[in-house]
Amino acid sequence: MSRIPLVVGNWKMNGSLASSDAWLREFRELCRKDAVRCESGLCVPSAYLLAFTPKLDSEPVAGEFHVGAEDVSDRVGTGAFTGEVSGDMLRDLGAWWCIVGHSERRTLYGETDERVAEKVKAAYDAGLHPILCVGETLEERNAGRTREVVLRQIAAVLSVAGIEALEAGAVAYEPLWAIGTGVAAGTDQIEPVHAVIRGALEEADPVKGGAIRILYGGSVKPQNAAEIIALPDVDGALVGGASLDAGNFYRICAAV
Ligand code: G3H
Repeated sequence: MSRIPLVVGNWKMNGSLASSDAWLREFRELCRKDAVRCESGLCVPSAYLLAFTPKLDSEPVAGEFHVGAEDVSDRVGTGAFTGEVSGDMLRDLGAWWCIVGHSERRTLYGETDERVAEKVKAAYDAGLHPILCVGETLEERNAGRTREVVLRQIAAVLSVAGIEALEAGAVAYEPLWAIGTGVAAGTDQIEPVHAVIRGALEEADPVKGGAIRILYGGSVKPQNAAEIIALPDVDGALVGGASLDAGNFYRICAAV
């Protein structure tokens, strides 16, 4: 099964109008000189989507590049839900990707597996391409519970949103203990978990499950991207800190 590699940045709560503009100009310039061969994307705070999307329409970045959101409401339609941003609104702003269930949402904002599953469904139903994040804490890993945790997180989404929602997007394995530390998980730690995830997806649907891209996230940088993405069942990366710098993000894409 050949899957086109995908590298997506996650700015988290960083950026400004000025840095959005500068990032896009630099990334576009680098791609113009030497186009990347993978598909790529950048998820930014929804407040900055419009700093990207109209410019992408007028002058596309070389290769397949889409901008996305970092979260979405589980609420559908409109209503009295102060502070929520719906999938329809994100589509209206030109978002393509939508990260769902990032560990920071799960741990800092109490998002349960059930809420994450509803969000994946809401994103997919709105026409977004959800990137579902799964991963274990250090305590769970040390207790030998990694497999159980990621399978539980995936099963919740499959039962509510269906495999089609993940087929439209991607799954990102992000062990919490490797996020923002500067030290990525070892290749011997990444590969078995990706195999577990692939097994669960293929069990749900052999064809669709085999086509879904599984990204790795956690301290990916230009220096380690090639080695990680070369692993079986690692189809790309979800990049946090290193995506803030357009040059670093470009180098990660170029390493694929
Ligand atoms: O979504 C991205 C992950 O949280 C990884 O962040 O590359 O800064 O470790 P990081």
